[in-house]
Amino acid sequence: MIYQKLSKRQILTLTWWNRDRFLDMDGIICDGAIRSGKTMSMSVGFLLWSMSKFDNQVFAMCGNTIASLRRNVITHLPVWVEGIFEIEEHTKENMLVISNGKSTNTYYLFGGKDEGSYKLIQGMTLAGVFFDEVVLMPKSFVDQAVARCSVDGSKYWFNCNPDGPGHWFYTEWIKGDQPKKKHVIYLHFTMADNFSLSPKIKKRYESMYSGVFYSRYILGLWVKAEGLVYPMFSRDRHVVHKPVEYKPRCRYYVSIDYGTVNPFAAGLYEYNPAEKRATMVRELYYRGGSANRVDNEAYYSMLVQMIGETPIEYIIIDPSASSFIETIQKYGQYMVVKANNDVVDGIQDVTKFMNSGVLFFHESCTATFDEFETYSWDEKAKEDAVIKEHDHSMDQLRYFCRTALRSELKWVV
Ligand SMILES: Nc1ncnc2c1ncn2[C@@H]1O[C@H](COP(=O)(O)OP(=O)(O)O)[C@@H](O)[C@H]1O
Ligand SMILES: [Mg+2]
Repeated sequence: MIYQKLSKRQILTLTWWNRDRFLDMDGIICDGAIRSGKTMSMSVGFLLWSMSKFDNQVFAMCGNTIASLRRNVITHLPVWVEGIFEIEEHTKENMLVISNGKSTNTYYLFGGKDEGSYKLIQGMTLAGVFFDEVVLMPKSFVDQAVARCSVDGSKYWFNCNPDGPGHWFYTEWIKGDQPKKKHVIYLHFTMADNFSLSPKIKKRYESMYSGVFYSRYILGLWVKAEGLVYPMFSRDRHVVHKPVEYKPRCRYYVSIDYGTVNPFAAGLYEYNPAEKRATMVRELYYRGGSANRVDNEAYYSMLVQMIGETPIEYIIIDPSASSFIETIQKYGQYMVVKANNDVVDGIQDVTKFMNSGVLFFHESCTATFDEFETYSWDEKAKEDAVIKEHDHSMDQLRYFCRTALRSELKWVV
């Protein structure tokens, strides 16, 4: 691989273990902006260190899931260390065997979130661990992996993008003089550390995020989620006024947040593959409550009325709405898909789609606009959480984005 010039921090991440000043340090943490070269420099540094200091030892490489570790790290390694090491991948065993002619070591792949990874790592004796995106992993898994490093000279390597200031990894490893207490080097990266990013691409990343995610992923700060969840929503920028008509080259979806006491919110979405653009074209927003409570049959007729003749791919619905899922399935008219209900991940999707000119709303979706203008982060919560009010249409929008729109756009990040 042809490396662009490396930044000072990238060079330090690659070589700290071989410098007199740092010889007795137990590890390194790199946090900061996305795309700043943390993963690249750390994974290569980890291999350089482990291969030159050890032979016949076992190491762990961890990601949020094994799939994301493969995508972000493992698939790039052959290019990143081309001509330096021989990498043999044992896919079934989730393991790499790496050699340089003189030494050979084994690297097991783990997903902090994957069931089974915790159990597997429990019994191991490790000479070092690499954690990519450590804030996404449960503390119990990370603690366990660190505790398995019992070989002389073993070290831990952590990298992550920031989360909130109450996050366990921040308070235990980064805040104040924690790095000193834990005996690790702490480096803070910015996008300026990646010399391979063109100004155009840098701008594109910067324009994708706003609010708390801009502060975290672009500025690299550990800040709290405060204020409006979607401060970027604009009635000028995101609302379309053209009449709604069926277009045969578009694909259609319905997304539902079910409620009986709370409002029942649903949206009909049009996805235009040629323009890579989605629009919420119709809104169904029924305020139930004790006075106006209706049954599932009534909801079903409202749904049928909203859909009309539009052929839809499937209906996305919150997984907890089992009675209504049964009602839809009883009629056998539409296919049902249970929504991915990860709140913060879904909010990030909606944010990116709205910022990058992919997601729009027809002017008739007025209850959704009202929610956009009130839906807020819960500032009292310890971790990222939203105030669970005015969130019904916001939920169905999240379901649509995380379940249907991501797969239409083939977004994997
Ligand atoms: N010095 C460099 N030379 C060439 N490519 C680089 C360099 N630093 C980073 N990159 C590339 O930039 C992209 C982002 O780097 P990555 O390590 O994934 O960032 P992060 O983990 O901070 O999000 C990757 O494609 C990586 O290969
Ligand atoms: Mg990374």
